[in-house]
Amino acid sequence: MTSQTAIYPSLDGRVVFITGGGTGIGASLTRAFSAQGAKVAFVDIAEDDSNRLVADIERETGRRPLFIPCDIRDVPALQGAIAETRDALGDVGVLVNNAANDDRHRLEEVTLEYWNDRIAINQRPMFFAAQAVVPQMRRLGGGSIINFGSVSWRMGTANVPVYASAKAAAHGLTRSLARDLGGDGIRANTVVPGWVMTDRQKRLWVTPEGEKVIDANQFLKGRVQPEHVAAMAVFLAADDSAMCNAQEFIVDGGWV
Ligand SMILES: NC(=O)c1ccc[n+]([C@@H]2O[C@H](COP(=O)([O-])OP(=O)(O)OC[C@H]3O[C@@H](n4cnc5c(N)ncnc54)[C@H](O)[C@@H]3O)[C@@H](O)[C@H]2O)c1
Repeated sequence: MTSQTAIYPSLDGRVVFITGGGTGIGASLTRAFSAQGAKVAFVDIAEDDSNRLVADIERETGRRPLFIPCDIRDVPALQGAIAETRDALGDVGVLVNNAANDDRHRLEEVTLEYWNDRIAINQRPMFFAAQAVVPQMRRLGGGSIINFGSVSWRMGTANVPVYASAKAAAHGLTRSLARDLGGDGIRANTVVPGWVMTDRQKRLWVTPEGEKVIDANQFLKGRVQPEHVAAMAVFLAADDSAMCNAQEFIVDGGWV
């Protein structure tokens, strides 16, 4: 079966801000929103990959996403990037809190410093990015905030206790934002990717044993690709999902 994906007219010209939009699922998000005609800005620390992506998208679509180099652990810099996006492209109508780092860590080895650093990447920026975009979304009369969770903490993935804590917290943030901002027409949802075949996953963890785990546990054959996850985020950003709010949307191919 060939697959065809939708174009959502409501995203044409909408300003979208993505964290970690330079590689992995984030690169697919940047591509997918650009293909919708959205005005896309993204932050990332992977400067070479991000600049390559921007050039590729411009060549393919004629639209050039705005890449702002930024380490999201630096909250003033992150909020500054959102202000820069507003000045360059207009008020942000869609925030995609995607960036994360799932490096493995053993319980015994986690120091206070390591804990704080992981939370500073995987949890804290979601809140402060939302804080910065909300006044812009209020001016627009609404918006969509998409936080990235993970199946890892539900599946019981080993050796990720701090990452798992942060990813579980994304669900709580989503529900809380949705409650507080619903009156302003601002929606918040969590996208929950399954095991997605990004370059990083393939390089580090999709070993022959990992492939066996997927074959044994995933209901659909094949592999979840970054573009499958991006398609869900695009839907949640568009007006087509107008009454989807405070929920979790799992894209894992079905999993035991
Ligand atoms: N790939 C999977 O199988 C999977 C599974 C479950 C959940 N997720 C979630 O999906 C999202 C994307 O995952 P991914 O697999 O594409 O991750 P990835 O590690 O491949 O990409 C993350 C991106 O964020 C950027 N980034 C990392 N630290 C940063 C920082 N401090 N400042 C700015 N940018 C930074 C990286 O450079 C990279 O471009 C994450 O929230 C992750 O938790 C992924």
